[in-house]
Amino acid sequence: FGMAAPQLMKVFVTRRIPQEGFELLKQSGICDVQQWDSDEPVPREELLKGISGAHGVLCLLSEKIDKEVLDTAGNSLKVISTFSVGYDHLAIEEIKKRGIRVGYTPDVLTDATAELTVALLLATARRLPEAVETVKNSEWTTWKPLHLCGYGLSNSTVGVVGLGRIGLAIARRLKPFGVRKFLYTGQQPKPEIAAEIEGQFVPINQLAEESDFVILSCALTPQTQGLFNKQLFAKMKKTAVFINSSRGAVVNQEDLYHALSTGQIAAAGLDVTDPEPLPLNHPLLSLKNCVILPHIGSATYATRTTMSILTARNLLAGLTGQEMPSELQF
Ligand code: NDP
Ligand code: DGY
Repeated sequence: FGMAAPQLMKVFVTRRIPQEGFELLKQSGICDVQQWDSDEPVPREELLKGISGAHGVLCLLSEKIDKEVLDTAGNSLKVISTFSVGYDHLAIEEIKKRGIRVGYTPDVLTDATAELTVALLLATARRLPEAVETVKNSEWTTWKPLHLCGYGLSNSTVGVVGLGRIGLAIARRLKPFGVRKFLYTGQQPKPEIAAEIEGQFVPINQLAEESDFVILSCALTPQTQGLFNKQLFAKMKKTAVFINSSRGAVVNQEDLYHALSTGQIAAAGLDVTDPEPLPLNHPLLSLKNCVILPHIGSATYATRTTMSILTARNLLAGLTGQEMPSELQF
């Protein structure tokens, strides 16, 4: 007279993720895990199929979780766990309306992302990709006093747009390079946090005008969408180096191309673009003074493993109505 087996909850995982997190889900005994078992993004129709009737979804920043997806999921959906700290791909208002909980991955990727941003800044300011190229294509003929000069951090002014977890971690790492002054901007001054780097809160125009290095580490929101445009690039120093490790859409890329190709600013380093990947015929890819990386801020083995575990734990806690290790408060 056996008891009916407890009904397993349906979970959809939208990509291959590090094994450690995936195993946690498989071994939890509470869910039936379906996965888009590929390194490539799930096609929209497969996402809709996978999420239909699901109780939980583990997604990546490449999946737009919008009204259509939420409607397709239906009433069963309790939790969305994203393998990212950024959540601009989630329709937060729609999610809120439906009482769905959201898990994300703050803190665990802060160090890796800050480190990559510093690497990108140095590579851009000191022209490393260009320099490496000259060694390979016989342009390196001799040591030349004026060859491949760039810009150094020593005595510089660094402007951080968004002094959040990652912004502060970047500034903290740059300070020992001899930065003279940190400026920052955001929604409001944060004197306690800025004290560590003696950061001065300024309006964005002043930050653009006075910084030798401008670093974007803010969230993508309706307020920051297209924030760096013609007007701001025009205010920047001709010698300024612009670095973006936030989201591509914070920058108007046409305006950035114009600024870089006309010498309005010196160089740009982008870990993020809009769209991703950037099409091969995109004008920014034709510029020597633009270093573009394929969104690798958090890409260390250890960080991605930790992210997979945290994402799985967030999901399981959401399914069972427990406290999540990292729940987005909105
Ligand atoms: P935080 O929430 O700690 O920081 C976000 C920052 O954005 C805050 O300082 C906030 O300022 C700022 N911000 C919000 N609105 C505005 C605005 N209108 N103008 C200027 N600044 C604004 O997040 P994290 O530091 O953990 O992550 C930041 C972002 O980095 C993520 O949202 C994600 O998009 C991106 N990211 C990219 C990675 C990569 O691989 N390249 C890896 C990880 C994250 P305030 O404090 O004043 O509210
Ligand atoms: C994020 O987490 O938002 C990044 O862009 C990828 O780690």
